[in-house]
Amino acid sequence: MDHPPNPGPRAILFVCLGNICRSPAAEGVMRAMTGGRDLVLDSAGTGSWHVGEAPYPPMQEAARARGYDLSALRARQFTARDFEEFDLIVAMDEDNLAGIERLRPAENDVPVVLFTDHAPETGARAVPDPYYTGDFDGALDLIEACARGLAARL
Ligand code: 4NP
Repeated sequence: MDHPPNPGPRAILFVCLGNICRSPAAEGVMRAMTGGRDLVLDSAGTGSWHVGEAPYPPMQEAARARGYDLSALRARQFTARDFEEFDLIVAMDEDNLAGIERLRPAENDVPVVLFTDHAPETGARAVPDPYYTGDFDGALDLIEACARGLAARL
């Protein structure tokens, strides 16, 4: 046999609203934490306002200060096709999760989970949006905790 049995998700999509703050940061942090593993990681937004844009500069700066380079990422909108291409979809908050579920194709049973489910020790039920709160470091603290938990389960 060439491959061991596949124990878990191999293609993971992180989803927020704009795809310029939380989900690109989640993608970058997860990439760093799972380096060398055979995973497909991507991110998308339920909204279309920022399609084609690089992550929001203050988010990039806060991430860069921790060693995560988000500069090559470009925003795109989540689509129903993503249900066919990923085997785990990770939402940053309940609104994102609802927006994702609205596009679920019939018969598709790909799990959609909250990122914060992977960091129960934080007590957080969502990753607060730093585009509105201005707290990019707080968002990164939580994203790192969630990514650590998710990476440990892969
Ligand atoms: P994100 O933050 O969902 O973490 O990328 C947002 C960025 C921009 C907007 C909304 C959320 N916006 O409406 O422009």
